[in-house]
Amino acid sequence: MQAVKIRENIYWVGAIDWSMRSFHGYETGRGSTYNAYLIMDEKITLIDTVKHGFEEELLQRVQSIVNPAKIDYIVSSHVEPDHSGSIPFMHEHCPNATIITSQPQGLKGLTARYGELPYQAVKAGDTLKLGSRTLSFVPTPMLHWPDSMVTYCPEEKILFSNDAFGQHYATSSRFDDENDLPVTMHEAQKYYANILMLYGQQAQKALASLGGLDIDLIATGHGLIWRKYIKEILASYQKWSKQELEERAVVVFDSMWHSTELMARAIAEAFEGKGIRCNYYDLKANHYSDIVTDVLTARYLAVGSPTLNNQMMPTVASFLCYLKGLAPKNHKAFAFGSYGWGGQSIALVEEELKACGCEIVLEKIRQANVPTEADLRAIAEKVQGIL
Ligand code: FEO
Repeated sequence: MQAVKIRENIYWVGAIDWSMRSFHGYETGRGSTYNAYLIMDEKITLIDTVKHGFEEELLQRVQSIVNPAKIDYIVSSHVEPDHSGSIPFMHEHCPNATIITSQPQGLKGLTARYGELPYQAVKAGDTLKLGSRTLSFVPTPMLHWPDSMVTYCPEEKILFSNDAFGQHYATSSRFDDENDLPVTMHEAQKYYANILMLYGQQAQKALASLGGLDIDLIATGHGLIWRKYIKEILASYQKWSKQELEERAVVVFDSMWHSTELMARAIAEAFEGKGIRCNYYDLKANHYSDIVTDVLTARYLAVGSPTLNNQMMPTVASFLCYLKGLAPKNHKAFAFGSYGWGGQSIALVEEELKACGCEIVLEKIRQANVPTEADLRAIAEKVQGIL
């Protein structure tokens, strides 16, 4: 396997995971890449490693350029094992390398996982002279773990951004302009929604610290490297991290015997009837990681469940549990659902929507048995009343 040149004497040496379909519950339908970079200077430096299981791919790509024993530094941007998992393996092949990590969380995390290795901890503003290039370290805590940091090389104007700006997207292209931009942007949004939505404030701080940097290349830890659409991905991160919403709606539901489904259709049509684009998600057919990607930027959220054994349906509970963990902001929401007798699910859904941080803008819509045409018209009128 060969390294890919991204600049004179700088190479992508990562791994492509074509088959990965779940990243701790986030459904990754397009796989991922674990990006690592090799800088050939007076001091030879590897930025990040790859997930355990892909270490031979990393090693072969490095060996296509240099004997790994000559590597002087391994920068560990992030302790999560998709980036650090091959540090022990690479340490064996790079016995002279010092492992650069953040102070104190990176040092603590790597030591806990991999024991005592030749670590050097760095903090905000610390620099490392490689020869003709310098590396400058910028902590980005909670993007994605407390230890996370990014590395900037001013001479090359490259930001090695690790998780930030990444996408779980396996392709044979390495650069944004070699690929279909709408797909890349969608995967970047999905990545942000599922991995970083909870950390919007920290993302804002990180964007502020990176704001003064002159960046020509964002060398991400996953997916494609940004070189043509840097302005676009930075603007998207501004929007997503501020949770700036679009006048759009998302209707999410599960149904047992189609009554809640009929309500969901009436609600979706009510939004559309007022010119508000609405996406409609049956939880039997859609994964919650795709739905939260859409929720990230949609103003309205309607969630429906029939009552099953005095509860909401487990699929709806699972979606709301996942959404609550991501702490969405600024959404206007309401609950709906059908029932045969008790009807407890609708209030339970509403409580969860409140716990998610949503503003409840419509009294919960309860429907006994099967909605008639008149019931559906009444539901649509209620929904249009909030618009
Ligand atoms: Fe790509 Fe948080 O690891």
